[in-house]
Amino acid sequence: MTDAQLLLDRCDELAGISSHPDYLERVHLSPEHKAANALVASWMEDAGLSTWQDPAGNQCGRMEGREPGLPALLLGSHIDTVPDAGRYDGMLGVLLAIQVASRIEPGSLPFALEVVAFSDEEGTRFGTALLGSRALAGTWDDEWWSLTDREGVSLFEAFQDFGLDPARLPGAFRRPESLIGYLEAHIEQGPILEDADRQLAIVTSIAGARRFSLVMTGKAGHAGGTPFDRRRDALVGASELVVEVERLSKEHGVIGTVGRLQAFPGGVNVIPGRVEFSLDLRAEFDDDRDAVLALIHEAAQEIASRRGLHFEQTEIYRADAVVCDLDLREAIAMGIRSIGDDEPLAFWSRAGHDGMAVVAVTPFAMLFLRCKGGISHHPDEAVRKIDVEVALDAYEAAVRALADAR
Ligand code: GLV
Ligand code: MN
Ligand code: MN
Repeated sequence: MTDAQLLLDRCDELAGISSHPDYLERVHLSPEHKAANALVASWMEDAGLSTWQDPAGNQCGRMEGREPGLPALLLGSHIDTVPDAGRYDGMLGVLLAIQVASRIEPGSLPFALEVVAFSDEEGTRFGTALLGSRALAGTWDDEWWSLTDREGVSLFEAFQDFGLDPARLPGAFRRPESLIGYLEAHIEQGPILEDADRQLAIVTSIAGARRFSLVMTGKAGHAGGTPFDRRRDALVGASELVVEVERLSKEHGVIGTVGRLQAFPGGVNVIPGRVEFSLDLRAEFDDDRDAVLALIHEAAQEIASRRGLHFEQTEIYRADAVVCDLDLREAIAMGIRSIGDDEPLAFWSRAGHDGMAVVAVTPFAMLFLRCKGGISHHPDEAVRKIDVEVALDAYEAAVRALADAR
């Protein structure tokens, strides 16, 4: 069996570890997360890595370099998912990293090689994202302990249920001296590579994102008896804002999405009195994102006052834009050239990645591989075996280029 086929089979096997029988969802600190960590650890060990689970639930593996205890080059991605996920977002990056390690002779590199399967990149369970990589980067915020999931379980309790001691969380921190950099391979999650008929790309930077919980409050009432001029319909107001988010985002070249919206009390014959919804806003440059955020806020206030509603927003996640390291980018470029693409494409990532957190302790760069139709965060996510094959070769060559440069 080829390495690429092995990785695709392993993605299928990981996709079988889901909390839902009908679709893939594997969230932070769930029983499925524990099972996925165990399976990934067994593959790390087969690749010659010694393994441990860190105090944040990240699954780690390490291969020593020419002498024990050298600073490490970190490779990896995440193994948590969004609801009804595809099987390659994150997971393929972890498996590519393990396979690169399996191709390296232990003790042969001028640095140690570590692979990490981050516990939480998506933020599906607790709303805020990058919890695994932020623990590793020492940018943890103790206020997060009281975040709750939909069942009301706090992050603190979820750590304990998983068998982790919250008091030991600081032990996940990696000192900058213990690392030389972080390289991540990931599916593109957009159509640029496919449209350009190319397989791989260098990532130049990652878009800065902010996420909010929004609430529009009006007054519930009888759908038959309440005349239009007396209504304070929170859903019509929220809907106007959803359309404004799209209009303003398009007009100013940023990316705005309302991904969740719930109307209360939710009766077919009741005017909605309250709507809870979300906003995800991102852009290549933080200033552009924040300028549109101010316009969205203005639009919300105008809609609310015109319709007799009350509008509130609470920020639940913020990760500012980060630029990939030039030397590590050049190593990725050498990797891509080694598979015969002499002038690699380079562009910024619209999606968020663990590098946004890891950059606090070590420089990072990323390799993108093409995905079918640019589709991601959907079960139709797909990759071609040939693209996985060249991604693996390019990733290995990037690691060897960094070794040669030291
Ligand atoms: C992570 O996948 C994101 O939302 O960008
Ligand atoms: Mn994702
Ligand atoms: Mn991802």
